[in-house]
Formats: sequence, C-alpha cells, structure tokens
Amino acid sequence: MALKISVIGTGYLGATHAACMASLGFDVVGIDVDPAKIALLSKGEIPFYEPGLDTLLAEQVKSGRLTFSSNFSDASSADVHFLCVGTPQVKDGLAADLTCVNASLEAIAGFAKAGSLVVGKSTVPVGTAARLRARLLELNPDSDLAWNPEFLREGFAVEDTLHPNRLVVGVTSDAAENILKDVYAANLAENTPWVRADLPTAELVKVAANSFLATKISFINAMAEICEAAGGDVTILAKAIGYDPRIGNRFLQAGIGFGGGCLPKDIRAFMARAEELGASQALEFLREIDSINIRARQRVIELVRRDLSEDLRGKKIAVLGAAFKPDSDDVRDSPALDIAVQIQAAGAHVTVHDPKAMEPAAKRFPVLNFAQTVEECLTGADIVLHLTEWKMYRELDPAALKAHVAQAIVIDGRNALDREKWLAAGWKFRALGRA
Ligand code: UGA
Repeated sequence: MALKISVIGTGYLGATHAACMASLGFDVVGIDVDPAKIALLSKGEIPFYEPGLDTLLAEQVKSGRLTFSSNFSDASSADVHFLCVGTPQVKDGLAADLTCVNASLEAIAGFAKAGSLVVGKSTVPVGTAARLRARLLELNPDSDLAWNPEFLREGFAVEDTLHPNRLVVGVTSDAAENILKDVYAANLAENTPWVRADLPTAELVKVAANSFLATKISFINAMAEICEAAGGDVTILAKAIGYDPRIGNRFLQAGIGFGGGCLPKDIRAFMARAEELGASQALEFLREIDSINIRARQRVIELVRRDLSEDLRGKKIAVLGAAFKPDSDDVRDSPALDIAVQIQAAGAHVTVHDPKAMEPAAKRFPVLNFAQTVEECLTGADIVLHLTEWKMYRELDPAALKAHVAQAIVIDGRNALDREKWLAAGWKFRALGRA
C-alpha cells in the first residue's frame, strides 16, 4: 500500500514538498498553524509566487490526494512526517531560531503512530537532529527520526524537488533508510545519487553547501572590487575562470550579492553553531564572506553618489527589482530592497518596480514608492538602478526608455543588461566590477 505522508509547515519548502509528493501518488496532508494559509492552500492556491507550483498544487488538491489542515491530529495516520518549518535568524544574534522546529516535534510526538518516521527537512544547527530524535523516542518510543536536507532553489522549486541532483539521508537504522527509499523510489529509478549519512553529517551537508555557494558569490564580488580598483572587467574574468571545470561558471555572477531567506541566515547560524562547538576559527572566513556581501550593496550606493551628488536629498531614483532574485516574489533580505530603503533614508525619492514582488515589498517597506509599470517607475528619474535581473528588464528597449527619465544613467547591479545596447542608446552605463 502506498505510504501516507504528512508535511508539517506549509511555507515555501513544505507547500512545494507536499504538492510534489502528492503528484508522485502519495496521500499527503499538509499541516500548518496558520489557518489563513491552510484555507488558501485547501482551495488549491498558494500565498507566494513560484513558477509551476500553483498549477501542480491545484491539480493535486483537486485529485483529493492532497489536503491541508491546521489540526495536527489529522496527520496521525501518516507513515512519514516531513518537518518543513522555518528556522529564521533570531532577533538578538546570529543563531537560528528553533522555536517552530521544537514545537512541531513535540506536537508530532503526541500523535505519530507506531512505526512511523519523522523526517527533518528544515535547515538546522548541527546536533539538532540527535536532540530531537532523543526527545521523540522519549515521548513516542515506537517511532524514529531521520534527517533529509532540502536543496531546492526558489524559482525552480518543483523541478528541484521532483528531480533533485542528490538525496541525502541522515539515518540511524536500515529500517529508516528503507522507508525513505520507498518515498524516493521514483528518484532512485532515475539514478539520483543517494548519500546515506549519520544525523550530524546530513545536517552539515546543507549548511556546508549553502556556505560554499555564498563563498563563490562573495569571491566573485571581491574580484569585482579589485577589477574596479585596477580597471578590469569582472564579467570577463568570471567567464575566463569559469571555463576551468574545477571552478565552473555557475554562481559567479558578480553584482549586489546574495540575499533571501537562506544563504545569509544559514552562514550566520553556522558561525554561531561553530562557536558553541568551540570551532569558531574554522568558519572565521564566513564573516568575511558576509562582509563582502554587505559591501556590494554599499558600493551601488557609492556609485549613485558619484554620479549624482554626495547629498541625495530630492534626487529621483528608479529601482528595477524588489525580489531577492528573479522568478520569485520573496523579499526576505532582498539586496535590491535594502539598497532602495537606504537611498530613500538618505532623502532621495525612490520608486520601485518588480513584476511579481511589489505587494510583499510594499507590505515590508511602506515608505518606498511603487510603480505599476517600468515607464511609470522611470518617469523623471535622475538615475535607474537595475537590481533584480528579471528577464523582462533584460528585454527593455533603452532607446524608448530614454524619453521617460530626467537623466539617462543606469547602474546594472546584476551585470545582466546588454551594456553595448544601453550605451548605443545614449545611456551612461555603470556596473559593479566593470571599468
Ligand atoms: C539557496 C540554495 O541555492 C539552495 O540550494 C538551497 O536549498 C536554498 O538556498 C535553501 O537553503 O533553502 P535560494 O535561496 O532559492 O537557494 O537562492 P539562490 O539561487 O541560491 O540565490 C541566492 C542569492 O544569491 C540570490 O540573491 C541571488 O541573486 C544571489 N546570486 C546567485 C548572486 O548574487 N550571484 C550568483 O552568481 C548567484
């Protein structure tokens, strides 16, 4: 008989995981403490933008395989409980806030049936899984806990969940591994690499991977700083080093750096955990990775000042992009919005456009102005900042846009626009890391 699955926490990760598991034929119930979210998901709608997920989730809800509930006891018949709740940065430090993880574990322990497996997917400090497992066995000795970190990227969430580039399972028994092999039978059939690990290693794989990605981005942004100082071009440099397969060309896009709900908080929580473990020196470099990343945002503001004036009061600034990256409406720790807010705080009049993230951006930063169209955003602007590389911005016609602005100056914060095209249309073109 097909396994029954519960997914605890229906945010980005949980909603995607629940819909994908249902699409594989499992009976899935998604549980969340937020009744408004549950009501929306039950109608087959999602509270955020993720390409392809809306259709998939609606189909699965319609099929009857996927249901949602705010009542934990509705998960009592499940064989596998995926723990997908958030672990944000704590308000008063660098560490991860485990309140939701701990509370969910306590709740699951109360209803999990004998022989069921709790599978953690949330990103947690190493040592959490072993602690949660001990607590689970104390409350519910007939169950078990495994850790199965998630590597999905926003914007590609469905594809990454259905066809991950590897599956990592932290287990303490063959029985737990075998249950997970049943869950991921479709992936095993397509020869997805399967890595069995112990609990701490499985937890560490996740933060190590995100730290490596953050390091790659900050590395190229450090090279961008050097290129600026030495008169070089970081886009050519990145292309050239990327041809070496040991380096690879992905995640070498220089610009305003990484943001979002994962990379920034994960490297900080990793540093905090290393310190607790007495191994802080090993991750000292991540402090620098974080600083380079924050500096990239400041460098855009410096470019604005260089082109306009030290005093930004009264200047009109157009910002293209609010999401932390394209194909997402996520504005958590968005470099684009951080820059927009800092410039607005310096007295400028900032107007933001984004094809998908305007609503969440306005909710978070009501002090900013928002425009429904690119043309409206650019009207009367003294400078245009391109800060999230949506495809629609790359396809803009700079010649036509010139008519709307007060001064034709553009700063490409993502090194994604076609410089020659903008120069040919008579714009002054600035970019990070390009002379
Ligand atoms: C990241 C990881 O890529 C996923 O593997 C992981 O599962 C996820 O975090 C998570 O921990 O849940 P995501 O936050 O969706 O995924 O975004 P990324 O695609 O990694 O981009 C992160 C940031 O880096 C974005 O702000 C992006 O604009 C920036 N970036 C990315 C660059 O500045 N340059 C690059 O070359 C690539």
